Amino acid sequence: MDNKIVETKIPPIRNGTVIDHIANGQSLNVLKILGVNEHNIDSVISIGMHVPSSKTGWKDVIKVEDRELDPSKVGKIALIAPDATISIIRDYYVAEKFRVNLDDHIVGLAKCSNPNCITNRGEPVVPEFHVEVRNPPKLRCVYCDRILTNISDNLL
Ligand SMILES: Nc1ncnc2c1ncn2[C@@H]1O[C@H](COP(=O)(O)OP(=O)(O)OP(=O)(O)O)[C@@H](O)[C@H]1O
Ligand SMILES: [Mg+2]
Ligand SMILES: [Zn+2]
Repeated sequence: MDNKIVETKIPPIRNGTVIDHIANGQSLNVLKILGVNEHNIDSVISIGMHVPSSKTGWKDVIKVEDRELDPSKVGKIALIAPDATISIIRDYYVAEKFRVNLDDHIVGLAKCSNPNCITNRGEPVVPEFHVEVRNPPKLRCVYCDRILTNISDNLL
C-alpha cells in the first residue's frame, strides 16, 4: 500500500449544484446572490474559500445540496466571477455543466452607484451597463458613464 494522501476538502453531494472556479475571495458575495438563509433552505451548503486551483492559483467553490439555480442568479454570478462554472449534480454525477456567461451589455441586474443618475431618480428607467473590462469585470453605466465601483453591493 502506498502512502499517498487523498484530500477531499468538500464532501461529495448526491444532488445539487456546484459553483466552481469562483474568483478568489468572491464566495461570500456569490452566497449573497444565492439568497440562502435560515428560513429558505434545509440542505447542506459547503464553501471552499481560498482553495488551490490548477488554473489560477487560488479559487473559491460552493456546493449546494438539493438546489438548482435560476438564470437571473447565474447572470449576477457572472458579474463577480466571470470564470465560474456551474455543474448540476444528479445521483453523484455531473449531469450538466456550463460556464457562466458575461454579456457585453448588462440590463437590470445591478444599479448605478451614482445617486444623480437618471436610473436613481424615480424615473422608469432600467439600469444598463456596458462591460468595459471582462475580468475582473468593470461596468460603465450607459446613462451617466460612471464606472460601477462595487458590483456586489449594487446587485438588484
Ligand atoms: N458528486 C459530487 N459532489 C460534489 N461535487 C462534485 C460531484 N461531482 C463533481 N463535482 C464537482 O463538480 C465540478 C465539475 O466536475 P468535473 O468532473 O467536470 O470537474 P473537473 O474535471 O475538475 O473540471 P474543471 O475543469 O471544471 O475543474 C467540480 O468542481 C467537481 O469537484
Ligand atoms: Mg477541477
Ligand atoms: Zn448611471
